[in-house]
Amino acid sequence: MAFLSDRLARVKPSPTVAVTTLAQQLKAAGRDVIGLGAGEPDFDTPEHIRQAAVRAIDEGRTKYTAPDGMPELKEAVCAKFRRDNDLVYTPEQISVGTGGKQVLFNALLATLNPGDEVVIPAPFWVSYPDIVRLCGGEAVIVPTTMADGFKLSAEALEAAITPATKWFIFNSPSNPTGAAYTHDEIRALTQVLLRHPHVHVLSDDIYEHLTYDGFRFATPAQVEPALMDRTLTLNGVSKTYAMTGWRIGYAGGPVDLIAAMRKIQSQSTTNPSTISQWAAVEALNGKQDFLEENRAIFVRRRDLVVSALDAIPGIDCPVPQGAFYVYPSIAGLIGRRSAAGTLIADDEAFARALLEETGVAVVFGAAFGLSPCFRVSYATSDDTLTEACARIRRFCSGLS
Ligand SMILES: Cc1ncc(COP(=O)(O)O)c(C=O)c1O
Repeated sequence: MAFLSDRLARVKPSPTVAVTTLAQQLKAAGRDVIGLGAGEPDFDTPEHIRQAAVRAIDEGRTKYTAPDGMPELKEAVCAKFRRDNDLVYTPEQISVGTGGKQVLFNALLATLNPGDEVVIPAPFWVSYPDIVRLCGGEAVIVPTTMADGFKLSAEALEAAITPATKWFIFNSPSNPTGAAYTHDEIRALTQVLLRHPHVHVLSDDIYEHLTYDGFRFATPAQVEPALMDRTLTLNGVSKTYAMTGWRIGYAGGPVDLIAAMRKIQSQSTTNPSTISQWAAVEALNGKQDFLEENRAIFVRRRDLVVSALDAIPGIDCPVPQGAFYVYPSIAGLIGRRSAAGTLIADDEAFARALLEETGVAVVFGAAFGLSPCFRVSYATSDDTLTEACARIRRFCSGLS
């Protein structure tokens, strides 16, 4: 009898781990490594949010809460959905978990049976397909193209849906491309979904507040209220409030799904950290003015990186509307050889040679399901980004 479960065999080791491990090894060996792989803002959690957590500790608000969130936080989440998204949820339609990742995991574990299909546009956040597989489902990957702004068309969605489709995972703004869907682009997709009442929508809105150039964020249940009772609208405080380590994510959805997710959470982690929940109440109910300042910083960094990378012969770097990533193509560099003699056969070889020869760590496109590309996170200082882009330029000009 095998000791490890068959379930585990369905999950690939994270392809990003290889690059991260190599970066750590090079750093430990004394190399000057610039990491552009992090999926988190470099800002500190704002002071008023930190103070709310300190108050919770000092006042002894440190006991267990209801497994899927305390009433004060569920009220704050309902108010947020009303304020930002015109979505009216009641507290029993809200689930709070240890990060958006746990909420996603609960939803899929609560609903997927063997053979159930989940439609995932590529490029995708690396966790979607593997969580689907861990939960026993089949990930149906639908490629998009750079020419289409990395956005899924209505026709491609229609073609991917079968009688076995249980979920469609939608992520805007996207990790890894930063692509964000307009109201009309979402409408085209919701029109398809209206024709397939057995398909549920999981809308991952975690980068909602990181959009630029006047872009107006929208989410499927807001665009098409008829989908409200089969949509799980997922969000969290990690990216918006620079709170990745506090581990609070949340979702609004139909009462029976939320109850099923609660059952799972009550038998796994119980409630997310009570102290973090009080911090999240302050994040959602407190002042929001710093978001504008953060957006201005991110847009400056985005423009810096896009103009530097797009100017490199062989790299094509589109301007994303949101998140803090760019996803350039290296189609023009495939087949060339680096100064140290590495053949750039694909984006994984590119990322590895770039790291070994220049110390710049990026994540290769195959990890996100669409090649030949790489992902740069620009959630780091202007000086670091300028130096990293200069090294990438030198590396590329040294290719033969
Ligand atoms: C697209 C996307 N969704 C969800 C998450 C989960 O974030 P958390 O678990 O910190 O809430 C991430 C984090 O990287 C992400 O990029």
